[in-house]
Amino acid sequence: MRITSAEYLSSNVLAEKCPAPDKPEYAFIGRSNVGKSSLINMLSGNSELAHVSARPGKTQVINHFLINKNWYLVDLPGYGFAKVSKVQREKFERMIRGYLTRRPNLMCVFLLVDARHEPQANDLAFMETLAEARLPFTLLFTKCDKLSSNAMLTALRRYKEVMLQHWEEFPPHILTSAETGKGRDEVLQFIEDTNQLFKKMH
Ligand code: GTP
Ligand code: MG
Repeated sequence: MRITSAEYLSSNVLAEKCPAPDKPEYAFIGRSNVGKSSLINMLSGNSELAHVSARPGKTQVINHFLINKNWYLVDLPGYGFAKVSKVQREKFERMIRGYLTRRPNLMCVFLLVDARHEPQANDLAFMETLAEARLPFTLLFTKCDKLSSNAMLTALRRYKEVMLQHWEEFPPHILTSAETGKGRDEVLQFIEDTNQLFKKMH
């Protein structure tokens, strides 16, 4: 899919105030600093669309972006980063939970995990939450530019091994890098296909 327009729409604390759920929506969720905002910029081809920072806790509210005038990308605050204060973390987690239960147009959650790290307990717990809410998710491994292809294979094998201790199958996953653009075509293709599904349902 070619991106012809990418616009910032709104920032909200409350999911009730978000744009009408009349277009297919894709949310970027994961630990603070994992690279959610960077990946949104990479996919949209606009490095200034979402705000990026080396300091975790940069994104603090629910941000909607309208892409090609017909689908939404959503940038959310991160969860579970120890360097973000406990009060702030709880606020973000409440916001994320509120968001997840109030978007009937949410077609898929992109759950971002840092390709360099072992599977984290809070990511695994978050996957359980998604499964209980019957929300489909795709794993996006981020910052893949920081690993050699061999190290990437090892990391992926390890991730699979840990997940298969609790899950029947390894979920759909895409390797990405906001630095190199890796995974862009694959993610956009997935969104294009899923947008068709939304059309059929409405
Ligand atoms: P919060 O909004 O705080 O939850 O963080 P976030 O998940 O939105 O992360 P953000 O996109 O702000 O990126 C965090 C840091 O990681 C920044 O310093 C980015 O430059 C860096 N980063 C993000 N993606 C990549 C990537 O693909 N490769 C590399 N090397 N660095 C990345
Ligand atoms: Mg962010």
